[in-house]
This record gives sequence, C-alpha cells and structure tokens, in this order.
Amino acid sequence: MEKSFNYAVVRRPAESMINGITTASLGKPDYINALKQHDAYIDALEKCGLTVKVLKADENFPDSTFIEDAALCTPACAVITNPGAVTRKGEIAGMREVLSEFYDVIEEIHSPGTLEAGDVMMAGSHYYVGLSARTNNEGAEQLIAILNKHGMTGSKIPLNEMLHLKTGLSYIENNNLLIYGEFLREKEFDKFNKIIIDPEESYSANSVWVNGKVLVPAGFKGTREKIKTAGYEVIEVDVSEFRKLDGGLSCLSLRF
Ligand code: GLY
Repeated sequence: MEKSFNYAVVRRPAESMINGITTASLGKPDYINALKQHDAYIDALEKCGLTVKVLKADENFPDSTFIEDAALCTPACAVITNPGAVTRKGEIAGMREVLSEFYDVIEEIHSPGTLEAGDVMMAGSHYYVGLSARTNNEGAEQLIAILNKHGMTGSKIPLNEMLHLKTGLSYIENNNLLIYGEFLREKEFDKFNKIIIDPEESYSANSVWVNGKVLVPAGFKGTREKIKTAGYEVIEVDVSEFRKLDGGLSCLSLRF
C-alpha cells in the first residue's frame, strides 16, 4: 500500500535570499515573486492533503527557505542535520523545537559529520545518501547508524557533478525513479523503473511525490508527460525564483 504524508513544514523566503548561494546564472531572485511562488507551493501541498506549518522567514540565513536541508523526517524519527555549507550551518537552530511538535524521537548529525538532507532520498525504508560537497562520509555514516537503530537502512552514493543527490533523482513510489545525468551510471538504481529526464529538462528531475500526486516544476513538458504516462496526477508549481539559487521543489519543504 502507498504510504501517505500528513504534514509539511516550510519556511518563508527571507528578503536576504538575494544573497543566497548559487552556481546558476539566472540573475537575482525577485523577492515579491518568490513570495507568490511560495504561496502557490503551499497551496499545492495542501491540495495533496497535507497540513502545512509555515515558519517565519529568517533574514540571517539567505538559503533558509530551503528547509529540506536542515532536517530529515522519517516515520520513526526526525534527524537534525549539520549543513556542509558554512553559511547554512545556523539554519538548524530552532528545528528541534519545531519538530518536537510532531516527533518524540529527534536525532542529530554531529561535526565532523556534515549532512544536508537534499542529499537523502527515501525509497520505502531504505535511504540513499549522497556523498557531495555538502555531505561527507562521516555525516552519511552517522545517518545510516541512526536509520539502523530505528529499523531502517541506508547506502551511500558518490556524487561528482551535482549539488545534491535529489538534484538528479526523485523516487515517486511504485518503483518509479526520475533519474538524470551521472546517476544513470549508478548500478544501485538498476532495480528501479527509470524515468529518464531529458538533459534540457534536468531541473525537473527534482520533483516531489505527495500522496499519489507528483509536484513538478512548471515549464518542463517532457517530464510532465512522462510522469502522467506513468499514471500519476501532476501538479505543476512555478519555482523559477528558487531555481535562481539552485533550489528545487523538494528543497522547499519537509514532508512526513
Ligand atoms: N542555494 C541553495 C544551496 O546552495 O544550498
């Protein structure tokens, strides 16, 4: 039976987002438009049946709207991460208090381990953990030990080209995996039904399954049609202002 999510936590974009980390050359985000897009993102999560907790913007951290990196929410426990990007480390402050509303068990990743949960992809009770510029081996090992303690498993996937694991991969349940780029060469993913994302639509490899529907970034017709053909209802969400900061759809929420 398909699992279901009940809640999401999001953080409003800060005006300081214009100073967020980026490798994209798409210009600075328009803050007013980012707020509108964020409103529509929340609406889309609500359409999927989630109750959405909206945290206040944190101007001290330009990338803090990408809340997915600050915690991993599993069915058994939440895990507060230790972001690898120096300017993002402080984003975890307050996450314990936020998550204690939903979780009795909250674990943590400790230095020298670093981990951003954009590098973690859940497929059933198994979690793939990307080794990236943001998530180191020690952080991945700590997470896998936490998962094992709570009856789940994890395995490490080296990254050479992408920011985060979920930059190029999204598990959309029923054994279906959106996949792009370097991950096509990874044997661990051969067991999935691969829905290969076209290079010119690579940004949409980061899409999000929520309760049987798939949120897809607006403007990627090829990906949208492939996901529809696989039997899903698709909800398109425009996140172009967040893309300017290398942020994807999944980065904007914790879902559990
Ligand atoms: N701007 C999002 C990140 O680089 O983590």
